[in-house]
Amino acid sequence: MADLQLDANAVLRTVADLPCPQGLPLLGNLFQMAPSRLHLTLEQWAKRFGSPFRVQLGTIPITVWTQAELFQTVMRERPHLYRRFAPMESVMAELGGNGLFSAEGTAWEPQRRLVMRALSFSNIKAFYPTLVAITERLLVRLQEAAKEHRTLEMTEELKRYTVDVTSTLAFGEDPHTLEQEQGVIQEQLTLIPPALMRRVTALFPYWHYVLLPQDRRLARAMVEVHSYIQRMIERARERMRQSPDAPPHNLLEAMLAARNEPDSTVTDEQVSANVLTLLVAGEDTTANAIAWGLMYIAADSHLQNRLFEQSRAALGESKVCPDYDALKHLDLCEAVCSEALRLRPVAAIQTFEPLTDVCLGGVAIPAGTRMLFLTRPSMLDPRNFVRPETFDPDRWRHPRDPSDGVHEQKAYLAFGAGPRVCPGRYLAAVEMRLVISMLMRHFKIELAIDPAEIEEVSAFTMVPNKMPVRLKPRA
Ligand code: HEM
Repeated sequence: MADLQLDANAVLRTVADLPCPQGLPLLGNLFQMAPSRLHLTLEQWAKRFGSPFRVQLGTIPITVWTQAELFQTVMRERPHLYRRFAPMESVMAELGGNGLFSAEGTAWEPQRRLVMRALSFSNIKAFYPTLVAITERLLVRLQEAAKEHRTLEMTEELKRYTVDVTSTLAFGEDPHTLEQEQGVIQEQLTLIPPALMRRVTALFPYWHYVLLPQDRRLARAMVEVHSYIQRMIERARERMRQSPDAPPHNLLEAMLAARNEPDSTVTDEQVSANVLTLLVAGEDTTANAIAWGLMYIAADSHLQNRLFEQSRAALGESKVCPDYDALKHLDLCEAVCSEALRLRPVAAIQTFEPLTDVCLGGVAIPAGTRMLFLTRPSMLDPRNFVRPETFDPDRWRHPRDPSDGVHEQKAYLAFGAGPRVCPGRYLAAVEMRLVISMLMRHFKIELAIDPAEIEEVSAFTMVPNKMPVRLKPRA
């Protein structure tokens, strides 16, 4: 970790003292912060102004930070001292999705407990045979495309996979998006993260006054998404009525059971909002993390061969990794995605605001001041990771030899940290190992375009604008 020691209590500056890029009168930096390039713009300014600096959204100051140790402090002190941006909660509530990700205060803890149980190691292990079956269905889909020499938009393929996995694990229903071409729920879900990005960073809630074409599209999609969720909840209620004494089989049933308890604080809205939260959180993140990993694999035939050898050994005669214990032999498959997330963090920006006046890194920050933390700069800092610009999955090898150079785990911010650290990270790790090993065992992969054409887009998560891949079946 960078050895900069900051006395968190010494007030040296106020928010107004922080350096700020030159903007326009009244509007501030508003027109310099295109939502789709937000992380890139802020990273450039962080290089120029250092951390923290300030941007102005009209008259609203937003502080921007990059130091991993301050990031850790803020993340640890949630939910009592810091919360996510307030607009996150109001925007998600308007969309009917104020679940675990955006919930704050006393509403957060009971939801966190339920979700943590659903996504625990033991639950994922018990779910493993179903995960294998869904991975085999992805393989069938990819084999058909390879036979027809079709170029695949890999993020879209992977999102079908992650939606089927999350739904089956958390709600006990497989939507089989892998077997359908169009009209799948994942098409509507895809509109939500960019809309969230637009609305959370908007100067004022313009959509209350005028609906732009993208807002109308979103409104139509939300009608479909909510009717999909309500139908799923009704079916779960029916299953529970049929077997009233059976323990809950999944998160949805556990939430409905908690909802029915006499002094329950769980509401119908929270149940529905968490279905939406998990569908969105589980779909986009893992799919894009694997897609970024594939970009690096496609560029390195030696790495591709090593992954093939590791996958062949672990899979044996099976089409996909046959049992949970064999996953431990697929560490390089996960390392490729961990390393891709270091260089291309899908959560490139995290938002916070303090609930009371605080002092952080020598800056006095009044309650409610908006704070953006950029996750990538500390992961590209040579004080935290040796040869930080190089894609090197072997840096994730365990145990590490100290002579390999610095590897500061606390500066790896891809999944957040503290009490709100991503509860889906074990599931994501299993999906990464399963999918990458399946792909490497059965195909050679190549990008259908020059990697330089692939651009990063801020769409709440940080996603590639395209990831066209050609798959060549291995003999
Ligand atoms: C590569 C995959 C993933 C990445 C990089 C990722 C990243 C993150 C990050 C950075 C956070 C914020 C953590 C914090 O505030 O400290 C988060 C929160 C969350 N993630 Fe993930 N995530 C991934 C996969 C998943 C999956 C598969 C699920 C569920 C199926 C999931 C569900 C959630 C939820 C519900 C939260 C909110 C937790 C809370 O606020 O208490 N994530 N994730």
